[in-house]
Amino acid sequence: MGEITGTWRTRMEAHAKALIAQQHAVILAIESSCDETAAAVVADGREVRSSVIASQIPLHAMYGGVVPEIASRKHVESVDPVVKEALSKANMTLGQVDAVAVTYGPGLVGALLVGVAYAKAIAYAEDKPLIPVNHIEGHVSANYIAHPDLKPPFVCLIASGGHSHIVRVNDYGSYTLLGQTMDDAAGEAFDKAARVLNLPYPGGPLLDRLSKEGNPLALPLPHVKISGRYDYSFSGLKTALINRVHAMRQRGEDIPAADIAASFQHAVVEMLSDKAVLAAVETGAKTVALAGGVASNSGLRAAMQEKCDRHHLKLVMPPPILCTDNAAMIGSAAFYRLMKGELADLDLNACPSLRLV
Ligand code: KG4
Ligand code: ZN
Repeated sequence: MGEITGTWRTRMEAHAKALIAQQHAVILAIESSCDETAAAVVADGREVRSSVIASQIPLHAMYGGVVPEIASRKHVESVDPVVKEALSKANMTLGQVDAVAVTYGPGLVGALLVGVAYAKAIAYAEDKPLIPVNHIEGHVSANYIAHPDLKPPFVCLIASGGHSHIVRVNDYGSYTLLGQTMDDAAGEAFDKAARVLNLPYPGGPLLDRLSKEGNPLALPLPHVKISGRYDYSFSGLKTALINRVHAMRQRGEDIPAADIAASFQHAVVEMLSDKAVLAAVETGAKTVALAGGVASNSGLRAAMQEKCDRHHLKLVMPPPILCTDNAAMIGSAAFYRLMKGELADLDLNACPSLRLV
């Protein structure tokens, strides 16, 4: 096996060298880190030729969250048809793509392994370079698709179900961590707050919709103080909200769900946007980007626009469909990794707690 791997690797390095010389590659990307099986065909990191997302949300909603074993099994069923659909929508055969990219972390180990094993198999069988992609870098890269002129450096607020980071994107694939959450991720806090309001999983988007009918100042929530200048903490806000709702229920009061949703969203959005803009201003950034599932939150998008305008910062953000999990963003990130000659070997493994920085 060692010898075969070595030969394949040498051939892949030669393929990659040719692609780097042309600065051109059409990449088939695969994403299976959580509860979406996705595949996309992306040219040169910017042009999406097809993007297919098979969501498992209805399957997990009855349990109130993602069940890892069910997610893995569903990925096994979906990955092949999803990849075939992405190729067919791009009018391409597997043989015609230049390289295969796959998310190898962070995420659920069993879910990641499905994409990794599938990508390794087709890359080996079809003699294609294999590009390993960090899921969080994928979220950042969704901005390259939405804004073809965007180039590093910029400051990016990444807010997803598992991560809340402020990073400086120094160059493609090079990041400096400016701040991060000390406890819950923003998406996780949205989902837990939504749950206490009896909204089904994932509650973030539903809480966003409900909050449009409520008063954001109806329910005063504690002001969170945290020592790290650009760090976040959402768990105190979440607990305060849950305690308030439980107390109202115990007293037999009506729950003003829209007001509660609006107040919670307002508190989270203020914290996310204040610190992201502060970090951008204090590090001399000219452009700020949003990334991750929570970047599709209407309140966050509006607050970031208003604060960036006030500080003469350019704000870029992907459309909501590129904020939540998809494979197009993985194909974009993969292009810049490929251009640096960063390839995986056939021993690529899933890294559930892979870090961006
Ligand atoms: O990035 P993502 O699709 O998956 C992860 O990598 O985690 O993010 C999913 C998270 C979930 O917690 C979901 O509730 C949240 O993003 N989310 C939202 C909205 N849309 C998705 N949270 C608040 N408002 C939204 N509109
Ligand atoms: Zn994600």
